[in-house]
This record gives sequence, structure tokens and C-alpha cells, in this order.
Amino acid sequence: MATTTSPTAFVIFGGGGDLTWRKLVPALYNLWLDGALHEPFRVIGVDLKEMTPADFTARLRDGVDLFSRRGKAEEEPWARFAEHLSYLRADFADKAAFAALAAELDGLDRAWEAPAVRVFYLSTPPSVVRPLVQQLCDAGLAADRERARIVCEKPFGHDLESARELNAFLNGLLPESQIYRIDHYLGKEPVQNILAFRFANTVQEPLWNRRYIDHVQITVAEAVGVESRGGYYDHAGALRDMVQNHLLQVLCLVAMEPPVTFDADELRNKKMDVLRAIRRPGPELVQNHVERGQYSAGWVRGERVPGYREEPGVDPASTTETFVALKLWIDNWRWQDVPFYLRTGKRLPGQASEVCIQFRPVPHQAFPASAIGEMEPNRLLLRIQPHEGIVMRFQAKRPGSSMRLATVETLFSYDSAFGTSEPEAYETLLLDVVEGDATQFMRGDQVEEAWEVVLPFLQYWQQQGSADLPRYPAGTWGPESAHGLIARDGRVWVVPSSLEEP
Ligand code: BG6
Repeated sequence: MATTTSPTAFVIFGGGGDLTWRKLVPALYNLWLDGALHEPFRVIGVDLKEMTPADFTARLRDGVDLFSRRGKAEEEPWARFAEHLSYLRADFADKAAFAALAAELDGLDRAWEAPAVRVFYLSTPPSVVRPLVQQLCDAGLAADRERARIVCEKPFGHDLESARELNAFLNGLLPESQIYRIDHYLGKEPVQNILAFRFANTVQEPLWNRRYIDHVQITVAEAVGVESRGGYYDHAGALRDMVQNHLLQVLCLVAMEPPVTFDADELRNKKMDVLRAIRRPGPELVQNHVERGQYSAGWVRGERVPGYREEPGVDPASTTETFVALKLWIDNWRWQDVPFYLRTGKRLPGQASEVCIQFRPVPHQAFPASAIGEMEPNRLLLRIQPHEGIVMRFQAKRPGSSMRLATVETLFSYDSAFGTSEPEAYETLLLDVVEGDATQFMRGDQVEEAWEVVLPFLQYWQQQGSADLPRYPAGTWGPESAHGLIARDGRVWVVPSSLEEP
């Protein structure tokens, strides 16, 4: 793992919130344990909540105990790490609070006898992003173009228009190089590995095109419901929450052209080309390309769970989708006529994110019918989580005197190949911010283009109203209509390999 090389001040707005507790501080703690986070550094939580420094530290410790990939924190290292934590109670509308923050940061520079990299992490609702960035700029905190970096959490806008407005606002105050729009999927090892797998292996790249590939499926299934985030989710839904960002970013990596260099803008330009090439279905065709659903009460992994409309923070008459399935086309030479099927949902039978590349059938079947009973097309399965790795499924001859084929597989698993536990996505991405590497972050134009891709579906649903919102029992693979979407093309959804019955 890379290491940071300069002193760093992390300022987390929304320091008392869920993300800081669940993801950000466990990630920083693990980076520090791994020696990847250079001393000196400080983590300043900023929030409106009334909390003593001791309360703040205790809450973060609780988050590490619950969510760190290493499990519970040990006393002695945690105590040393906790010395780097501080809490500032502030109203984001209060100028004096930003002056106090600036004084604290200047004090750190003096104490460290070096100008620290300043990471301002906006782990806040989208509505406060603008006033917050304005305050940071007014207080001169973003003035140093080299060392001040602003990290924006998703959702980045609520639709194309609001994303454009937000980009215009941010770009009016800051150069693009200071803005890090985070999509944590891009920090996941198996997602980053898609580039390595495609472009560092001569045998792969020539196969990834319309000549050999029948279709691609991207599934991001979650067993959990909306948990404590009903208030946010009910205004977002699966298309905005997952497809506009995570699934489209994975699609870009699967579909992009080979980059010339590994430079941030080169990679992002290649992804932009994919987004621009995704067909926008017109009003007469859009209904053949999308299905949505909302979970009702049911059973997930042996546990009885409530329906979406019974979840805290959710409108009891909500028509927000918790499941979406899409068919997309990429209009370019490589992918013409190869459908990309995407689906994601909450309260599905299990948690699994996987890309399935299904190859075309052999052009001529020379084997007798008796040999090919259970023949399956060749499939390449990129397991993003859990059981991270890659599975290649192909045909082999069953041992015996007659020719009979069977589907077998080879497996690359991170666990057995590398042995170590992989860094969490947020670890990788936080380190990238400190190092000023924006490769795995979304540029403003990418975010807008991704909104353009989902726009026809959002508009279609808006016109359609709530009349046609299918429900699916929790613990199933979404509404019946989602199966229809792919079955109409003579295909079926492939159950993610990590959820297959043994
Ligand atoms: C977040 C979404 O971006 O990703 C959540 O807002 C979702 O709704 C989460 O649960 C899934 O992330 P992961 O890493 O658990 O697959």
C-alpha cells in the first residue's frame, strides 16, 4: 500500500454522522495501523451535535469495533490513534466557526513546522454542500490550490439540472483539481482490478467485444433494507442511489477502450466516451428498457422483515423504487448490439455484487446431443463482493468412455492469491485524496453525463406516476417484470456465483 508523505489535517463535516462512524474513521484507523498514514495528522470532526471530545472519541471507537475489517480495536493502539482526534461543534452557517477552524489549522501547521494537506470531507446532506463550500472559501480555507482538497459525497445532485447547478457553483469557486467527487465503488479492489484484468492480459482484451460477447449483466444485490436512511432514500430510490453512480461506473470499466496512459484524465476521458455512447431510449421505447419495484414484507435469510413502507422515515404511501432493472446499449464499434443488463435492489435474497460476461455460443455444435445435455455458455464472473475474485466457467469433458460435456470453473480468489485482507474502498480513496490522485474520482462532466443516461427513465416514471409500481416480497429477486425484461430477449438473469447453492 502507498503511504502519505505529508502532514495531513482531515476535517470531516458531518463528523457526528453515520458515514464517519461506519466508514471514514475505521478507514483512517486501518490506514494508520498499516503505517500508510504519515504522522503527524489530525482528524477534526465538525458537527452541530452537542458532544464532548470524550463522547466523540467513544462513538468513533464504537464504529471501529463494529465495522473495521480488523474487528475490535485493541486498547493500546486505539489510545494512541485517539490522540489525533478532535471535535468542533459548529453551525455551518456561523462564520465565526470557520474562523476558529482556520485558526486551528494554522496552529497545526505551526506546530508541525510544515504546511499540512487539508482534506475537507463533506459528509453532509446535499443541501448544505453549497453553503459549506462558500464558507470554506470565504474563510480562505480553500485558497491554497495545492493543499486544500474538497471531497463531495454522493448523491451529487438529485437530477441532471441540480448536478449541473452544483458543478457550476463549485467550478465558479474552485478549480476541478481541488474537487474530489467520491464514488466508493471505485475504491473497491475488484473494481480497480477490472482495468488490470482487461489491459494487463493479452488473452483478455481481444475477446471483450461484440464478436465474442453475447451480453453483460451487472448485479448489485443487497439483503439489507433502507436501515436508518429512510428519510434520504425515500427521495432517492435505487436508480439515483445506485445506478447513476456505482453501476454506471462499473459498466464504464467493463466497456471502456484501452487507455493510452494511466493518467487520471486519460482514464476519465475513456469512461466519458462510454457514457456518451450509451443510447438514450426515446419515449416510445423506454418502457422496454426498465423495470422497477418496491419490497413488501417478507423473509430474508430466515428473518421476517417489514415492507419498505413500514420502514422508519419512509412515507407509508411511498412510490419510491427499491429495485431497478435496466437494459442499456452502447452505440460504438466495440459494443453495438450487445445488451448490458443492470439490476440492483434492497432486500434481495443476499448481498452480492457481480459482473457476468456471457460469451456467445460456439458457432457450430459438432458434439452429439447426448454430449451436450447441460451445456452452459462460457461465463466470466467478476466478483466484486463477497468472496472477491474472478471465476471462469467453461466446458470440459466428463471423465468416462463417452463424450459428455460438463460446466467446470477456474477461480482466482483474492484470499488465496494474496492472503492479506484487502483495504476497504474508503481506505484507498482517502489515501488517494491525500496524495492528490483523482484517478478514481468522478469528474464533473462524468457525473452530468451519468445523470443524462438515467434521465429518460426518471422522466418515464414521472409521467407514468405511481400506478404501475410492482411490489416484490423481501427476500426475492425483485418483481416478476424484471425477469420479463431479460426473458423477452431469450435470456435469464444469472444468480451471482457467491449466492449459488453449493
Ligand atoms: C451507497 C448507497 O452508496 O452504497 C447505499 O447509498 C448502499 O444505499 C451502499 O447500501 C452499498 O455499498 P456497498 O459497499 O455495501 O456495496
